[in-house]
Amino acid sequence: MAYDTIIVEIEGSVALIRLNRPEALNALNTALITELGQALAEADRNDKIRCVVLTGSEKAFAAGADIKEMSTKTFVDAYDEDLFGARIDAITRIRKPIIAAVSGYALGGGCELAMICDFIIAADTAKFGQPEINLGVIAGIGGTQRLTRFVGKSKAMDMHLTGRFMDAAEAERSGLVSRVVPAAKLIPEAMAAARKIAEKSQVSVKAAKEAVNRAYETTMAEGILFERRNFQALFSTEDQKEGMAAFLEKREPQFRDR
Ligand code: CAA
Repeated sequence: MAYDTIIVEIEGSVALIRLNRPEALNALNTALITELGQALAEADRNDKIRCVVLTGSEKAFAAGADIKEMSTKTFVDAYDEDLFGARIDAITRIRKPIIAAVSGYALGGGCELAMICDFIIAADTAKFGQPEINLGVIAGIGGTQRLTRFVGKSKAMDMHLTGRFMDAAEAERSGLVSRVVPAAKLIPEAMAAARKIAEKSQVSVKAAKEAVNRAYETTMAEGILFERRNFQALFSTEDQKEGMAAFLEKREPQFRDR
């Protein structure tokens, strides 16, 4: 499918989606959020795609929701169109892994979009922030909740109340990103991580994603029970037999996603 605000490249079993509104530092307007949702849903449906990498440009992953588009809205407009509601919720329901590869600014909705992804690999140029407070609003794509769970209350409060930016080193130190790499290595590193995920049994990949996400939604006891039942259920798969046999036979497993 052809898109105006994103570019989708398929490399083997990985879909690389680039946000592409350079004139607005990839600000998230309705068209971009709609197209991103469509591209992710398409990747989720496509059996050949096993992992997604979501990135922006060198200067900006995304500089937030589109301020120009939002500036004249009333509460009723925002409420009526469910601004950043259903379309974002649909993105959170994508079952295949999504890696955010962040270079430059990931601000406001850009930081929030990166946090919706399954993990974030950052270039050493990355800058994260929730500067909505400077616009007389607050985060609206989950930033008050997700950032707090990533980095804890004190740092999240600091970011949301002062609007200051966090550099890549601080983001790694505080658990917001999984790794920091030199800017030139960002896409190769993210694609290599995606290819590694793509080699695994997709049954256990989906189960792992669901179980880790469950940690955000439930008590420890319920989460551990959810994990244990799914761990036990995976013994019904051919891939469990293959994975363990391959280990014992000192060879690479040939997973068949069943
Ligand atoms: N929305 C719309 N346009 C944006 C934008 C945004 N969020 N961020 C940048 N742009 C546009 C600028 O208006 C500018 O366009 P023009 O050339 O037509 O004037 C272009 O992108 C380049 O931006 P700058 O000239 O400002 O670039 P800079 O290098 O001087 O500064 C920046 C970069 C620090 C990221 C600055 O652009 C900035 O502060 N952007 C806004 C960040 C922000 O407040 N984000 C939160 C948005 S609200 C939100 O996200 C709500 C939510 O949670 C849902």
